[in-house]
Amino acid sequence: MSTQASAVQTPTPFKPRIFSGIQPSGGLTLGNYLGALKRFVEKQDEGIETIYCLVDMHAITVWQDPAKLRQQTREGAAAFIAAGIDPARSILFNQSQVTAHAELGWIFNCVARMGWMSRMTQFKDKAGKNSENVSLGLFAYPALMAADIMAYHATMVPVGEDQKQHLELTRDIAIKFNNDYGVNFFPVVEPLIEGAATRVMSLRDGTKKMSKSDPSDQSRINLTDDADAIAAKIRKAKTDPEPLPDSVEGLKDRPEARNLVNIYAALAGHTVDQVIRDFAGAQFGTFKPALADLAVAKLAPITAEMNRLMADPGEIDRILGEGAERADALARPILEQVYDITGMIRSRRG
Ligand code: AMP
Ligand code: TRP
Repeated sequence: MSTQASAVQTPTPFKPRIFSGIQPSGGLTLGNYLGALKRFVEKQDEGIETIYCLVDMHAITVWQDPAKLRQQTREGAAAFIAAGIDPARSILFNQSQVTAHAELGWIFNCVARMGWMSRMTQFKDKAGKNSENVSLGLFAYPALMAADIMAYHATMVPVGEDQKQHLELTRDIAIKFNNDYGVNFFPVVEPLIEGAATRVMSLRDGTKKMSKSDPSDQSRINLTDDADAIAAKIRKAKTDPEPLPDSVEGLKDRPEARNLVNIYAALAGHTVDQVIRDFAGAQFGTFKPALADLAVAKLAPITAEMNRLMADPGEIDRILGEGAERADALARPILEQVYDITGMIRSRRG
């Protein structure tokens, strides 16, 4: 082992730091808002150091039209700010502006094992029968995600339920790196998967995740939908003929009913129990309009603010650039230590 590596062997005190990301691969949905964005804001408001990223390099693991990618990245940034992310208190930027992500991503490609990656269910879902023809980047995607987090020594990652396996892989990569190089350099992250809406389901099929890539626009609520569109989508949402039950157990085997109740709870900031108590025995003819009113009340101000921000794309780019500079200042020294640990000559410096 090099003397450089032993120099960092003393346990690094990892201070609480949050990192999370969202792909600008389409417009954001109610699932992104409840599972991720809303909770990003709560974490920021708790006073923890928070770093949030539009992961444009992850987005191109599947084809993205360049003009649309640019637009969606700005729209994503506008959504973060409109939802309550304050670019002065949180660091907000797009991934490609901080090259440490790609650099550490490569190193992690050399730490992660083929077998680990082949077990990723998101890859299997996205590749489907087409696995010979998808990009190599789609396969390596979770190693770049681990790099996003580890480039900042982040200790906590708020995400929706679908990212749990990727975060377990992030832990495995950090542990293997530490073991292989005999260091205690990377923290083992803690996933924060909390609340009533860690998995918001499609409005057309309660067994499928609500997703920006679903071909049916009726399946999701977009953060750009207006009040009429939101109300119409909720009115037409698939349900069963039964009234709402009087206990949470009564939602078992009723995926569509459970989904709407979860959405209500998350939007209102109530527990699922509380919602069931308030609506026990109610027909969907009563519950759906109440849910639509609540969704419009919570989302309309965000949509309005997004539209206002989108009128000045130069200002959004400025905010992302400033965030990237602050992110780079945190990631660069960590990356330099990684190069030392792995035995790369860095004689160009200083
Ligand atoms: P993505 O849109 O795949 O980049 O996801 C960004 C964040 O939103 C991640 O933390 C996801 O877990 C979360 N997310 C995406 N879709 C949903 C959903 N339907 N329900 C809850 N969280 C979601
Ligand atoms: N994979 C995440 C998703 O699709 C997005 C993501 C990329 C991310 N890098 C991250 C989330 C780092 C949390 C932390 O939802």
